[in-house]
Amino acid sequence: MFVSNGIGIDLGTTSVLIYEEKREVILNEPSIIAVEKNSKKVLAVGHKAKRMVGRAPGNISIIKPLKQGAIYDYDLTEIMLKKFIYKAIGKRVIKPKVVICVPSGVTNVEKRAVENAAKHAGARKVKILTKPVAAALGAHLDINHPFGNMIVDIGGGTSDIAVVSLGNEVVHNSLRLAGDDFDQAIINYIRKKYNLIIGESTAERIKITIGGAIKRPKTKSILVGGKSFVSGLPKQITINSDELTEGLNNIVEATIAAIYKVVEITPPELIADVMTQGIVLTGGGSLLYGLDKLIEKRLGIATRVAENPQTCVAVGTGIYATYAFE
Ligand SMILES: Nc1ncnc2c1ncn2[C@@H]1O[C@H](COP(=O)(O)OP(=O)(O)OP(=O)(O)O)[C@@H](O)[C@H]1O
Ligand SMILES: [Mg+2]
Repeated sequence: MFVSNGIGIDLGTTSVLIYEEKREVILNEPSIIAVEKNSKKVLAVGHKAKRMVGRAPGNISIIKPLKQGAIYDYDLTEIMLKKFIYKAIGKRVIKPKVVICVPSGVTNVEKRAVENAAKHAGARKVKILTKPVAAALGAHLDINHPFGNMIVDIGGGTSDIAVVSLGNEVVHNSLRLAGDDFDQAIINYIRKKYNLIIGESTAERIKITIGGAIKRPKTKSILVGGKSFVSGLPKQITINSDELTEGLNNIVEATIAAIYKVVEITPPELIADVMTQGIVLTGGGSLLYGLDKLIEKRLGIATRVAENPQTCVAVGTGIYATYAFE
């Protein structure tokens, strides 16, 4: 039987990933739970619960127990984590040691909540790692030297920005604005321009297929269905990628402004390192078309998206788990 030192968990607003060294990402499920309203019975978690979003009858609540990177519903987070840990590693005689991440700059109360949730979900020992440090480790940046690496993790609920040196954050900024807010910006834009109400899943699909921080060389279009804001009846429109770039502009600029703020407060020696090494983006939000190019243009610092950006934080917590408990 494979006995590990520990597992790493990326407790994200959109999804939970569990990573174990040698077995890699062993679980990747949406952070969603379906609960029967009256009895409070848990009906489904993860993928199964996500399939119910927007389609569940009135007696079922579909809940995202994390909001903007932090625990919003403690009990449900614990139940969800417990189910995921069990699904990932089964029943083990010795409970796992767990490294779990939090956004940078969270309060001690929020940190303790995450730690307790992991313990109650079945962890023997828990260590907390901030998302930028985990993301940097997962992107295989050499962070244990006195050298500045700038990492920006744009998830579903938070954007975590930091310059990491000697294994720790030197400067950081955590913005409660990320991929979910990009979806919301699309919902608002379409309602205002076309009097059309669309759901969150539709907005996300539009963002991924034709959304962008910059215009595409060849404009793309998509047919979008929803409900008329005026008549309440079904309605369809065609929207193009240039319009989406316009609709996403404010939120994209706010994200870049937050990165700029961190650059501004970074000590000179470290910023010189960042200038040579460039900025590394992780998290699903960093996949928005052209976001890396726009950051590079605005800040004048080379910017690239890490390989497999959505798993970097989980991989980083898993790598840390191999030596954190020694
Ligand atoms: N190709 C893509 N283009 C744009 N956005 C994308 C793409 N793929 C995924 N996303 C977005 O990435 C976000 C999820 O990213 P991620 O899985 O890193 O979040 P998370 O870790 O669960 O959240 P957080 O770290 O904020 O708690 C969602 O908003 C999703 O719509
Ligand atoms: Mg994340």
